[in-house]
Amino acid sequence: MRIIVLGYKGNVGRPLVDVLQKSGHEVLRVSRSDGDYQLDYTDSDAIEAFYKRIGQFDAVILVAGQDGYFGPMESIGKDEFAIGFDKKMMGQFNMVLIGQKYINQGGHFILTSGILSDVPNPNSLVLGTVNAAVNAFAKHASTMLERDIKINVISPGVVTTAPDTIIGHASVNSTQLAKAYEKVLHSHESGKVYKAWNLKAEGVLYRDLLD
Ligand SMILES: NC(=O)c1ccc[n+]([C@@H]2O[C@H](COP(=O)([O-])OP(=O)(O)OC[C@H]3O[C@@H](n4cnc5c(N)ncnc54)[C@H](OP(=O)(O)O)[C@@H]3O)[C@@H](O)[C@H]2O)c1
Repeated sequence: MRIIVLGYKGNVGRPLVDVLQKSGHEVLRVSRSDGDYQLDYTDSDAIEAFYKRIGQFDAVILVAGQDGYFGPMESIGKDEFAIGFDKKMMGQFNMVLIGQKYINQGGHFILTSGILSDVPNPNSLVLGTVNAAVNAFAKHASTMLERDIKINVISPGVVTTAPDTIIGHASVNSTQLAKAYEKVLHSHESGKVYKAWNLKAEGVLYRDLLD
């Protein structure tokens, strides 16, 4: 498959690129500042130009980071919400809304949300809300996408390579998480949210992606 990985240098993206390349996929490594292609996913015109430029592709995996406000309720106003809305939320939505015109028949969009949509902590108000919106977007878009195009979401737990800002949640091994993305890539389902958490520790039900 020819696969776009947006955010390829990040905690989630780096091991994901390794796993996909080892499986023989052609990976287009994309980030804001370097890689095979540069793209800021908050810029709709740039997204359109990017898709026009890269030729045919089968999948888009969205793992860009530094994309939402993480802090206590008393520090949050419109501006803090706007960070999450403009980046993690509308960035991913626009990659799908624009990309569905260009992706191959039967193609697959995989978005990223996160555990905070389901498991609050004292700093999770913005990111948790944004993650929930990402989950809902995929559910609804899956019923509207044409040409057998699929859309799914991975909701990661805190990955072991992440900084210590989200402590309080049990961590998920980044290579296991990368393999979970690959598993979903080959899924025939659409509109699902796959919870890749360390589940026993969080005490919640999950799908066995990490087994
Ligand atoms: N890490 C975790 O523990 C964790 C847990 C749950 C959910 N998640 C979610 O997983 C996703 C990836 O997280 P991460 O920790 O891997 O992030 P990260 O390490 O901060 O990711 C950095 C990558 O994202 C790219 N990027 C940032 N802003 C961008 C933009 N506007 N346009 C294009 N590329 C952009 C960076 O490119 P440049 O360096 O070129 O700017 C870099 O390649 C995020 O949605 C995050 O919320 C992460």
